[in-house]
Amino acid sequence: MNAPSGEPNPDDFVAKFGNKFLIEGPPDGKLPEEGMPAVDAMRLVAEEIVLDGVPERNLATFVTTWMEPEAQRIIGTNLHRNFIDHAEYPQTAEIEQRCIRMLADLYHAPGETTGARTQGSSEAIMLGALSLKWKWRERQEAAGRPTDKPNLVFGGDVHVVWEKFCRYFDVEPRIVPLQPDKFTIGPEDVEPHIDENTIGVAAVLGTTFTGHADDIEGINKLLVDLKGDKGLDVPLHVDGASGGFVWPFLYPDREWDFRLEQVRSINVSGHKFGMVYPGIGWLIFREKADLAEDLVFYENYLGKTDATFTLNFSTGAAMVLAQYYNLCRFGRQGYTYVMQVMSDNAKVLSDRLRDMGRFNLIGEDEEQLPLVAFNLAEEGGFDEFDIAWQVAAERNWMLPAYTMPPDAQEVKMLRALVKLNFSHELVETLADDIAAACETLDKKGGAHERERKQVKTAVGY
Ligand SMILES: Cc1ncc(COP(=O)(O)O)c(C=O)c1O
Repeated sequence: MNAPSGEPNPDDFVAKFGNKFLIEGPPDGKLPEEGMPAVDAMRLVAEEIVLDGVPERNLATFVTTWMEPEAQRIIGTNLHRNFIDHAEYPQTAEIEQRCIRMLADLYHAPGETTGARTQGSSEAIMLGALSLKWKWRERQEAAGRPTDKPNLVFGGDVHVVWEKFCRYFDVEPRIVPLQPDKFTIGPEDVEPHIDENTIGVAAVLGTTFTGHADDIEGINKLLVDLKGDKGLDVPLHVDGASGGFVWPFLYPDREWDFRLEQVRSINVSGHKFGMVYPGIGWLIFREKADLAEDLVFYENYLGKTDATFTLNFSTGAAMVLAQYYNLCRFGRQGYTYVMQVMSDNAKVLSDRLRDMGRFNLIGEDEEQLPLVAFNLAEEGGFDEFDIAWQVAAERNWMLPAYTMPPDAQEVKMLRALVKLNFSHELVETLADDIAAACETLDKKGGAHERERKQVKTAVGY
C-alpha cells in the first residue's frame, strides 16, 4: 500500500486499526530488531494458533483439555512460582508431598514411602528406571557379579519412552513382541527374557494402543516364584500413566499396585486422568529404600539444604497446585463419578459403532481406559487411515489411525478417547460423523496420499 502524497502513511493506519502482520509475514529465523507493541505480539500468536486443531476435538490425546474455572484461577495466579525453590516456597513443597502421600495411599503403599513430582510420565519413567538400574548394580556388586550388561524387560505395548530410556541410559531393551490377536503381555511372555542382568520388568496399566492392562498379577506371581526358586529379586515397575487414575476408581478390587509384592514403583500422569493440564506427572516408590540414595542430589544454593531427584530443575508450581486442587475437590467419590461418566460415554460410542455393523471393537468387555479402540471388520474400498482423514476433512475431528507395534503391525486401529468434556451429545455427534464419513468413502473410495497430507497440515491429527 503506497501512501498518496499528503495522506497519512499506511504504517499509521496499522498502528491505529490493525496489526502489521495482517499485511506482513511473522518474524521467523532472525530475532526482530525492534520488537513490537504487546497487543501486536498477542494477536500474532493468537492468529497463528487458529491453524492448530481444536483441543476439544482432539480424540487422540490422553491429556486433559478442560479444567474447572476455579482450577484455572489457581493456575493463572501461580504461573510465577518456580516449583524448585523449595526454601522460598515451602508450602508448595509441602503440597507436593501431600499429593505424593495421597497417591501412595491410593496405591496401597505398606508404610512410609517417597516419590517425586515430574513433568509427566516420561520423566517419572526415566527416574524410576534409573533407580531400577542403580539398585540392580548394588545387588550385582554385593553378589560379586558383573554390572556391564543390564537389561529391561517389557512388552511391545509400551509407550516409546521405555525404549528411549534404554537408549539414553545404555540398557538393553528386551521387548516381548505382540501378536496379531494379543495386544498385552503376561508372565509366559516375560519369563524367557529374564536373567540375573534384568534390572526390572515394566508392565502397563492402560496401554496407549488399546487401553488395556498387562497381566500384572500374573507377572508379579512369576517374579515372586523366581525369587523363591532361584533367589533372583527382579522388581516390577507399573506404568500407570493413564491407568493410575482410572483403575483405583473403576476397578478398585483389581490388584495391580503395591498390594503386589514385587511392584516397587509406579508412575502416573497427573495431566491425563488426574485431570490437570499438561506438565505434571508422579513417581511413587513402594518404600523409601526403593529409591537409590545415590540418585538424590543435595544443594543449598537456594537458601536451605534441599534434596532433589529430578531430570529438570526449574519448573512451574502451578500444575502441582492444580493437582492438589483436584485431589481435594473430587476426592475418591468425585474421581469415581467422573471415571464412570467417561466410561459410560465410551460405552455409548462403542454401542453406536457396533450398530453400524462395520467395526470390530477391541476388548470392549475387558477392563479398559475410557476410550474406544476399533477397526474395520472388513476393508472395502478404504481403510482406517481413510476414515481418520475423512472425519477430519468433514468435521475436523482428530481421530487417530495407526498400526499396532510388532508383531501385530498388520493390524490397523482407530482410537477415540472419551474424556470429561466429551458429553453424551458430542459422542452421538461423533458417531453420526463417523457413519457419514464411511458413507462418503463408500461412494468415492479411499483418500489419496496427497489429500491426507493436506488435512494433516490443516488440522494436525
Ligand atoms: C502408557 C504410557 N506411558 C507413558 C506415557 C508418557 O507420558 P507423558 O506424556 O505424561 O510423558 C504415555 C503417554 O501417552 C502412556 O500412554
